[in-house]
Amino acid sequence: MNSPERIALCPTDALVERGRGHVFDVRLWGQPARAFALRFDGRVVAYVNRCAHVPAELDWQPGEFLDLERRWIVCSIHGAVYEPSNGLCVAGPCVHKRLIPLQVGEADALVYWYPSRDVEPAAGECSTSPIAPSAAPPP
Ligand code: FES
Repeated sequence: MNSPERIALCPTDALVERGRGHVFDVRLWGQPARAFALRFDGRVVAYVNRCAHVPAELDWQPGEFLDLERRWIVCSIHGAVYEPSNGLCVAGPCVHKRLIPLQVGEADALVYWYPSRDVEPAAGECSTSPIAPSAAPPP
């Protein structure tokens, strides 16, 4: 599949500092999966929603990835603790492993995802709209 160069995920102000994540459908190595983006220390980060311990989704409520102190990403299944800024597991059953990162950026008041060969848009089931790099942002 040829991936678009970038996909608009959500408005930048939809991701508040250490708030809920934006969850979206992807294809990981050709298989359906989900991913999420959230804002941490002012920067948008995004990962495949898949624990490095076993392939389970992380969020303890839909879109809720951070612990109660809003400091760490915590897996809801066995409690693996991840550094939000780089996806490194710092405690739990998969310490030193990492979440699978997605490249994201912000422009024109939108958060964009830049698909890769490994993590592509979900064919026909993605709720986001491809936007060509040269296209003007929506009003
Ligand atoms: S599935 Fe995440 S810590 Fe076990």
